[in-house]
Amino acid sequence: MSTVRWGIVGAGSIAGSVAGDFQFVPGASLVGIASRSQHKADVFAAHHGIPAAYGSYREMISDPEIDAVYIATPHPQHRDVALAAIAAGKAVMVEKAFAATLDGARQIVDAAQARGVFAMEAMWTRFLPAVAAAREVVAWGRIGDAIAVQGDLYAFREYEAGNRLFEAKLGGGAILDLGVYLVNMAQMFLGDVKSVECVTRLYPTGVEKASAITLSHVGEGLSSLSCGFDGPGPGRMIVVGTKGWIEIEPRFHHPSVITVHRAGVLPRIIEAAPSGRGYSHEFAEATKRISEGATESPTMPLSDTLEVMRVLEECLRDSGIQHVDATLPDLR
Ligand SMILES: NC(=O)c1ccc[n+]([C@@H]2O[C@H](COP(=O)([O-])OP(=O)(O)OC[C@H]3O[C@@H](n4cnc5c(N)ncnc54)[C@H](OP(=O)(O)O)[C@@H]3O)[C@@H](O)[C@H]2O)c1
Repeated sequence: MSTVRWGIVGAGSIAGSVAGDFQFVPGASLVGIASRSQHKADVFAAHHGIPAAYGSYREMISDPEIDAVYIATPHPQHRDVALAAIAAGKAVMVEKAFAATLDGARQIVDAAQARGVFAMEAMWTRFLPAVAAAREVVAWGRIGDAIAVQGDLYAFREYEAGNRLFEAKLGGGAILDLGVYLVNMAQMFLGDVKSVECVTRLYPTGVEKASAITLSHVGEGLSSLSCGFDGPGPGRMIVVGTKGWIEIEPRFHHPSVITVHRAGVLPRIIEAAPSGRGYSHEFAEATKRISEGATESPTMPLSDTLEVMRVLEECLRDSGIQHVDATLPDLR
């Protein structure tokens, strides 16, 4: 495949942020936007210079001119959109959290594997140059064995009825929106998880304002993580090793700088800024893999996505919350 032709599903906030980064993605072209409203799709397409605007998700998914679909709806709508796109033979990149439930995530993975198409969680953080540098520092043993991850992701959001962040039926709450970044990084540095403890503060809508999560990893690592919408925070992350530590400078989910600290050595600052707003790197990876005919990315493998979803679901269970993946009759 010479150029991978991408279409976006859902003309919302992240779709608008991502669209401008396609200019930095080699071998990719953003050719379609699908909305539930033709007018909204037309406005989005005109604003971002996208040639095709579709007034239904089904219409774009059925179009043979689209190779790959980026799914930017609320989490509960990810599953049915992904299943329809996969059934049409399209590659899919699905926003975090991958689905509203572990079962929904498994359905997407199983369908992609059965159909032999590419699927990946749009976990942009993993592809950012500064995070890649932190992984290399750990892999080279510069901080010894990684044994702990500490991180916070507080992002103040004014409560607003109907906003997806605060509504149970739209998969709202801090765990799937912010906790996903923390658990993803902890799993990336320390591996799979043995035990989960999570405590939360809730909104009257029954979704989490804030959560504190403690993980014990299979390889003996420990993570302490916290996230919330009800106050601002620095967005710090530290990876502790047996011979030093790495600070992933705030905000850790889209860093430009890491600092490596080792006993007896001056701290080493590594600067590695992303291109554009930072979304081009995940699209560059997906585009390259799709062109090669691969079905997943080794940087964000589907097994890691499922492990993170399993942990998030345990956190939600500890908080008394059970999300549901939405059924979208138009796509069935
Ligand atoms: N990677 C990142 O940095 C990042 C940042 C923010 C969000 N995200 C993820 O991206 C996804 C979308 O988040 P967002 O902030 O862009 O949300 P948003 O602004 O609310 O946009 C979501 C879009 O999904 C579509 N949609 C489909 N069914 C819907 C429903 N029942 N209710 C509301 N909207 C519906 C709508 O588009 P149409 O009306 O056009 O159909 C809507 O504009 C989430 O999974 C989120 O976690 C990722």
